Amino acid sequence: MPLQPPKPKTIIANWKMYLGVKESIILARQTSKIKTINEIVLCPSFVVLPLVKKELGKKIKLGAQNVAFRDGGALTGEVSAGMLNELGCKYVIIGHSERRSFLNESDVMIREKLKLAVAQKIIPIFCVGETAEARKIGETVKVIKNQLAVLNNLSFDKLVIAYEPVWAIGTGRVPTLEEISDVHGFIRTEAGKSSKNLQIIYGGSVDENNIKKILIIPGVDGVLVGGASTKINFWKKLNP
Ligand code: PGA
Repeated sequence: MPLQPPKPKTIIANWKMYLGVKESIILARQTSKIKTINEIVLCPSFVVLPLVKKELGKKIKLGAQNVAFRDGGALTGEVSAGMLNELGCKYVIIGHSERRSFLNESDVMIREKLKLAVAQKIIPIFCVGETAEARKIGETVKVIKNQLAVLNNLSFDKLVIAYEPVWAIGTGRVPTLEEISDVHGFIRTEAGKSSKNLQIIYGGSVDENNIKKILIIPGVDGVLVGGASTKINFWKKLNP
């Protein structure tokens, strides 16, 4: 049998609030030189979106870390899906656990954000994941099922769901490969009908040492990477 070429995966960088303006531009420039078969998406801070966009070739896509839950008008400090579209964003992170916990982002808001992103043809990177407490009492699947309920009766040309256990984010702790595979399987069963093109990716303490092992887990279509993606060494390791 002829050897199948490896399937490209999606590697999404969530730079959070780690990098300054100049640092973001420099890292975007360096990242744009990385050679990989994988699809790369950079999600820098709002304030550097146009500057980072200038540094990216055609291959790397631009994403935002958040979007407003209304399409415009009186909403001080927010950024609409329409603005993100104008700036060339192809993706947007929605429902990240940091926003759910620190900023009280509710399921109602998250659903509005998903709808507004779709209306602007921006692909949502919808984040779900259990806390350490929920996991301890065996409620991982229950929590994720509830979070996925915001997708009910919505349909997406393309949707990315990021499984990000809250306890794994920024902690250096990662679930076992079997656990990741099981949760991804559950998400596919539960949310599969939302989109013909559904990608399920893993996030939480992915770095240059564990990324390859994670990307080959059955059912894992890519990764969402925070801290590690702010260092050029991480990207250099992706070079074949
Ligand atoms: P981390 O963050 O890679 O720093 O754990 C991931 C995320 O929050 O998206």
